[in-house]
Amino acid sequence: MQKSISGFSKLSKVEKINWLIANHFGNNKQAKTVLKSYWNEDKKLQQLHDEFIENTISNFYMPFGVAPNFLINERLYVLPMTIEESSVVAAASNAAKFWLTRGGFKTTVLSTEKIGHVHFTFKGEKDTLRNCFETLKPQLLKTTAPLTKNMEKRGGGILDLKLIDYTSKMPHYYQLEVTFETADAMGANFINSCLEQIAVTFETLSKEASNLKGFLPEVIMSILSNYVPNCVVRAEVCCAVDDLSLEGHFTGNKFAEKFIQAVRIAEVEPFRAVTHNKGIMNGVDAIVIATGNDFRAVEAGVHAYAAKSGQYASLSHATLENNIFRFWVDLPLALGTVGGLTALHPMVKFALELLGKPSAKDLMQIVAVAGLAQNFAALRSLTTTGIQKGHMKMHLLNILNQLEANPAEKEQLITHFKTNSVSQRAVFEALKNLRA
Ligand code: HMG
Repeated sequence: MQKSISGFSKLSKVEKINWLIANHFGNNKQAKTVLKSYWNEDKKLQQLHDEFIENTISNFYMPFGVAPNFLINERLYVLPMTIEESSVVAAASNAAKFWLTRGGFKTTVLSTEKIGHVHFTFKGEKDTLRNCFETLKPQLLKTTAPLTKNMEKRGGGILDLKLIDYTSKMPHYYQLEVTFETADAMGANFINSCLEQIAVTFETLSKEASNLKGFLPEVIMSILSNYVPNCVVRAEVCCAVDDLSLEGHFTGNKFAEKFIQAVRIAEVEPFRAVTHNKGIMNGVDAIVIATGNDFRAVEAGVHAYAAKSGQYASLSHATLENNIFRFWVDLPLALGTVGGLTALHPMVKFALELLGKPSAKDLMQIVAVAGLAQNFAALRSLTTTGIQKGHMKMHLLNILNQLEANPAEKEQLITHFKTNSVSQRAVFEALKNLRA
């Protein structure tokens, strides 16, 4: 029977660990050793990590890899990638190398607007609310002036404020919809602060408004939206179809035909679309995490965008016209290169420096390219060798570690599997034979 506890948050880190080990691990010292083995010896660095979140008891490592040779808009980048899954970094690097000699990646930021809402109910007549909103609008905008002053200096601020009638979906439900430009910040705190200020002012001024005929708006909540269909970047590659030919596999035309069919399947069939887009997110999330951005927000927004037609579909598209193969992806990405963890986490700082201290717009482009590259690598494998060959080749070390192979055994088996296909069973058998 597990015990509940009151006041856990007030315990010291050591007390928290002691309580956990005593109550959930039968006082097993090994569990404590595992936690401690992930503490950083540098006390200042450890404290920094302890304070990122609440109730921290240890650190959780993720590998930090790099993918070189990304030619983006004529500039070469090495991409930082934080991800636990084998073969993703290799696939990104492989795609980067492929496109390096075919013109590289091109990107365009299509829009950068973010959005937030004051959700409220109003039980009076719609027209009285509309008139009241129009009267109050200048004051609602003015009330955010102290909050928007600095953002305006950086080229951002509030772009628009609208009243939206949602009563057809839910009785009495309206929104104040606010659009923002947040320059190099992801902007969540800025947006939420502005929204909360607008909400307070809206409720206060409504009480004084004489034209609402006794009905008052009641604010439910004020919050940014992680759905950013007007903050979109396009990444694309194109080349002559003959340049796609894969030695030992297909002609350029055959490869393009199969590749485009694979994309088309993801455009029309949701089961495939989810896996297809997961492949894109392999690249997107790895850089979003490495640069200290909020991958949950990005994931939620991207998948909503993939379903914007009413059916979940592929985020990427491909065509073959006049012997030119074109492959592109549009992604809604609200990212920041200032604020949040960007100035705090040493590895995030390293990642941003590696990318040449990008602006938020630059980072949108780099992340979209990583998504497209990943999608290209996966589809190229899927439509030629199958995914398992390359994926399992990269996964070999994980299997060997799982089977507790020693360094000499690893070396011999890596050589063995250069010419044999990798599977859990095959590695198990090969290690058994080696040990025998
Ligand atoms: P390969 O042709 O056997 O590799 O591909 P290679 O040994 O000939 O090397 C070619 C290049 O690949 C290298 O160039 C590297 O750029 C890269 P070099 O550095 O030699 O100049 N590369 C590596 N980079 C770092 N470490 C390595 C490494 N090996 C090669 N160890 C590869 C092998 C795995 C790259 C290829 O088969 C591939 O791209 N496969 C796709 C793998 C993939 O997509 N993995 C994601 C996980 S699967 C998934 O979750 C998504 C999925 O479900 C999505 C979907 O369904 O659409 C598939």
